Amino acid sequence: MRGHWTAVVVAAMATACTTEREPASRTAVSQKLPARFSTIGRAASNTEIRAWDIDVNPTGAGLPAGRGTYARGAQVYAEQCASCHGAKGEGIAPNPKLIGPDPRDFSFASDAKIPRTIGNYWPYATTLYDYVNRAMPFATPGSLPPSDVYSVVAYLLAENSVIDKQMIIDAQSLPRVRMPSRDRFVLDDRKGGAGFR
Ligand code: HEC
Repeated sequence: MRGHWTAVVVAAMATACTTEREPASRTAVSQKLPARFSTIGRAASNTEIRAWDIDVNPTGAGLPAGRGTYARGAQVYAEQCASCHGAKGEGIAPNPKLIGPDPRDFSFASDAKIPRTIGNYWPYATTLYDYVNRAMPFATPGSLPPSDVYSVVAYLLAENSVIDKQMIIDAQSLPRVRMPSRDRFVLDDRKGGAGFR
């Protein structure tokens, strides 16, 4: 009961404060704003900035040191990915299908029920590193060391028939992998007006 009454009193006070004081306090706050909030926060350290600076672009810039193999990737996949994406990468709804290079004719463009996969849709292999590194495993993103990310990338690329199972994947080799759908994507150089490319 006591808790109940306290809550009611606090609520009543809060109402009183907002109704009576709001216009005055708004003016007061805007007059007191300092030019700089030098007392709030601090400059981010280089280590902190590096921890956020994880993007990998299509040229491969941003890829870290490390190397991955298909064999290790198969292990990582079975332990960290298969529970959601299926033992064969077939996808367990609502988690998407990851393995399956067919169909290769981009027919999902006219039939959204046909799944897009790494093998039949993704234009850059480097994006696979970037995405897995920043977003997967879904519940613990960022938990895989670079060599495990490279390895699971090698596994997914090989299972999608994009690379050979023997290929070592690292910062040098990954940007050289040409994805089957690379040429399906064009730069949007429209200068305004109608029409889609
Ligand atoms: C807890 C379930 C779960 C686990 C475990 C998991 N994923 Fe995912 N994954 C998802 C979901 C959900 C999505 C869709 C996310 C979205 O669309 O925002 C996804 C999307 C993806 C995609 C993008 C697919 C596409 O074509 O759009 C890739 C690649 C991927 N996951 C790789 C992995 C890898 C590699 C692992 C293991 C290291 C992994 N995932 C572990 C749930 C999971």
